[in-house]
Amino acid sequence: MSLGQNAAITAVGAYVPDEVLSNADLEQMVDTSDDWIRSRTGISERRILKDHPTSFLAIKAAQNLIERSAIDPKTIDLVIVSTATPDMMIAATAAYVASEIGATQAFGYDLQAACSGFLYGMSTASAYVSSGRYKRVLLIGADKMSSIIDYKDRTTCIIFGDGAGAALFEPNDEGLGFMDEHFRSDGVGRQHLHVKAGGSMMPASQETTQNGHHYLRQDGKTVFKLAVSNMSDAAINLMDKNNLTANDIDFFVPHQANQRIIDATAQRTGVDPEKVLSNIVKYGNTTAATLPLILSDFEHRFKKGDNVMFAAFGGGFTWGAAWLKWAYNT
Ligand code: UT7
Repeated sequence: MSLGQNAAITAVGAYVPDEVLSNADLEQMVDTSDDWIRSRTGISERRILKDHPTSFLAIKAAQNLIERSAIDPKTIDLVIVSTATPDMMIAATAAYVASEIGATQAFGYDLQAACSGFLYGMSTASAYVSSGRYKRVLLIGADKMSSIIDYKDRTTCIIFGDGAGAALFEPNDEGLGFMDEHFRSDGVGRQHLHVKAGGSMMPASQETTQNGHHYLRQDGKTVFKLAVSNMSDAAINLMDKNNLTANDIDFFVPHQANQRIIDATAQRTGVDPEKVLSNIVKYGNTTAATLPLILSDFEHRFKKGDNVMFAAFGGGFTWGAAWLKWAYNT
């Protein structure tokens, strides 16, 4: 699905806060056990950001990318922050992030598609570059999930964590980079995974606060089933459309929501388990940050020309798969 020039990821970065929330810590907070959490989700610990908003995570991840790639932030044209937990309802987090990292020639805006935010953002960022409109687009996935989690609700507090990751998109003249995507959404899904209050449907009030409507709530079983079927269907559809088989995929990068979702999705997709990347054990589900955290952690394993398949599923519902050819050796 070429729009003109290819757009490739040319650098990555990441940041997670120092504070660890372990399964043992959660055992002290809700009726759960390390054994239950590890066997049902594959998570051992997650990181928690105290005293700062999501932009803090995004800025740190962007600065990490800038250090690793040695680019001049003034050459960045656009900063997109994919997040479900922006600093504020109004005032794009990305605008603040761009200013703080010294991207003084850039404009910035936020993209909200919950756990699919970074996946959709990859399409947006590469379309801007492919069209020739901009040359350097910085895409950041950042979420402070701890700001919307009810630490009395054992069905959600064990899953989520805070973190951020970033990827730089630039033109590529070797035929590498973003190749194609298969994205879908279904608005019926919002009854199964949402933060009910704080938007225009249910503005914040004393009642919404008392009733816990500002916390994330989900029907875990429904989300689980649909995540597996939709992520794998999207990946299969994308492979079929491009005459790829599971053997052609060098790395599968699924959204990190639950290790059992990752395993079942990979199995249905037919990708060799050794090619399936996961770091959920140490970060939990960081929503829009899971995919770029994987890119950062596993960057050293990617080789120029590798076929990397991404898949995500999240609130909305939103979901899809994207295929790119990795563009550099580390
Ligand atoms: O990225 C998109 C966002 N969210 C997700 O992707 C999450 C998708 N869903 C899931 O990951 C899983 O559904 C959960 C981890 C949320 C739950 O796992 P499950 O295997 O689907 O458990 P379940 O809901 O079927 O519950 C089984 C039992 C229940 O007890 P009973 O009714 O069998 O007595 C739950 O009350 O486990 C109980 N339970 C827990 N027990 C200990 C639920 N949460 C916990 C807990 N510790 N933290």
